[in-house]
Amino acid sequence: MTLTFELDSLEDTAAFARKLQPLLKRGDVICLSGDLGSGKTTFVQALGQALGIQEDIDSPSFVMLKEYHSGRLPLYHLDLYRIREPHELMDLGLFDIIENGVTAIEWPQIAEQLFPYQTLSLHFEYDGESRKLKVQGEEEYLVILKEYIQNKEI
Ligand SMILES: Nc1ncnc2c1ncn2[C@@H]1O[C@H](COP(=O)(O)OP(=O)(O)O)[C@@H](O)[C@H]1O
Ligand SMILES: [Mg+2]
Repeated sequence: MTLTFELDSLEDTAAFARKLQPLLKRGDVICLSGDLGSGKTTFVQALGQALGIQEDIDSPSFVMLKEYHSGRLPLYHLDLYRIREPHELMDLGLFDIIENGVTAIEWPQIAEQLFPYQTLSLHFEYDGESRKLKVQGEEEYLVILKEYIQNKEI
């Protein structure tokens, strides 16, 4: 099952994050794909707010991993754009952190070779006019998110 959300405004992204937030638990991995500028980091910021994180969340591009501990669960925000070899990922200690909180990964492709496990895959699309979010992943999450789309449409 793939769910498609229209994200026409920042509020739409925030509302989606608020819906997803209560479902999340330690060990969850959310992979974020989509072109530069499609809204991946914006979603992680919205998720951080929904989790009650106090600090500002900015793009982790240059440090690859940023972590936030002031919310309901620890949030680990990764951007693997610059990683070329899987062993660089090992150096980040990814396997140790995942089980402690929620991990959101931008440019996850290199990690998928190492651990195919992911709770949710969020694919962001922006064509210059409209924004769409395609969601795949664990059924128990999708069922609840689907209800949310249906209620919105009424
Ligand atoms: N749902 C949305 N509605 C309107 N603007 C958005 C939305 N999501 C993201 N943006 C804007 O698009 C730009 C790029 O978003 P960003 O999250 O940095 O993209 P990415 O991390 O995918 O490169 C930002 O200026 C952001 O405010
Ligand atoms: Mg980004």
